[in-house]
Amino acid sequence: MNLVTIFEKNIPEIPCWFMRQAGRYLPEYQALRKDCPDFIQFCFTPSLVKEATFQPLKRYDLDAAIIFSDILVLPQALGQSVVFEKNFGPRLAPYTESLQWGETEKPLEPVYESIKMVREHLSPNQALIGFAGAPYTLACYMLEGKSSPGFSQARLYGFRHPEAMESLLKRLTEEVIHHLRKQAEAGCNVLQLFESWAGNVPDGYGEPWLVRPARQIVKALKTTHPHVPLLIFPKGLGTWIPEYIKQTHLQGISLGSSEHISHLLPHIPEEVVIQGTLDPHLLVAGGQAMLQEVDRLVGLFKERRYIFNLGHGIVPETPPEHVDILVNYLKTCSKKEPKPYPPRVSYSA
Ligand code: CP3
Repeated sequence: MNLVTIFEKNIPEIPCWFMRQAGRYLPEYQALRKDCPDFIQFCFTPSLVKEATFQPLKRYDLDAAIIFSDILVLPQALGQSVVFEKNFGPRLAPYTESLQWGETEKPLEPVYESIKMVREHLSPNQALIGFAGAPYTLACYMLEGKSSPGFSQARLYGFRHPEAMESLLKRLTEEVIHHLRKQAEAGCNVLQLFESWAGNVPDGYGEPWLVRPARQIVKALKTTHPHVPLLIFPKGLGTWIPEYIKQTHLQGISLGSSEHISHLLPHIPEEVVIQGTLDPHLLVAGGQAMLQEVDRLVGLFKERRYIFNLGHGIVPETPPEHVDILVNYLKTCSKKEPKPYPPRVSYSA
């Protein structure tokens, strides 16, 4: 169980999984989706979720499964309906404050049921990752109603109605904590929080919109599930990352492809697990360009606790063979350059 062990002690292997390792780039996923065109319905059907979760594991030698779901199942469970339209993405019903707060457990039951089914059939040395959107990223979709390059409508809401925004983030923080705890109880042994739109937040709003909710989530999970580590992916945060790590007390950070790793590394404490950062389009390109970047990343993170991953999700045009080549190449890198580990203290809260 390398993906869990790496949070407790230094190990010579580099665990590996991929964000969006299941999905449209796999022909077998496309085939499965044909029978269930409604994506939210798909996410709430345990037999389909189990099948989609296992598809990448049947192809590649990965250290973890991520439960097949979406961050937007939470707004749907709160009563703000979400539909995924072809060539458009998610479309949400207009936001209203009167949602079913505190009552998401029942509508999300199929997610927890799927986790139990997957855990039962997963190899004991593979981790099962559960996840949720972070409160600000969820608020972006709930307020904007769709994907958007800058989520300006969501931010405008926050600037015009700071108290309403604060109360929305507070409520979402509670829902996210509950959703993550239920996933851990159902059998997930690693959790990831997706703060995909962290990079949109203006400087002065970082504390209330990003740091405060994340700090509360980290603290709550450490209290009830101290052995289930939490990775956070605050995409696009840039030079602010070390301060975000310090203030949230997170155990693991997932970095986007555009972060300046060599600049950031000296400012990230050694006990923090780092995940990332291969550009998803290098996985599309494949060949020498991809393998050289793998070499560079393995070299950069040589003396760190490192999980190999992309800097964002696998894109639909990715040839599945490239993933296989990468995974096999990475195994040879770990063997070629065993990590020289000085003894270090293990991470504590
Ligand atoms: O394999 C995995 O990583 C697990 C599954 C997973 C999905 N979404 C499945 C999915 C995960 C971890 C997510 C997270 C997610 N969903 C995020 C955070 C990560 C990120 O990408 O920044 C966000 C912002 C969403 C919201 C979302 N879901 C959007 C904007 C879209 C439409 C755009 C797109 O990429 O299709 C989705 C759809 C979605 N989620 C698909 C999958 C496999 C495609 C659905 C399909 O057409 O079959």
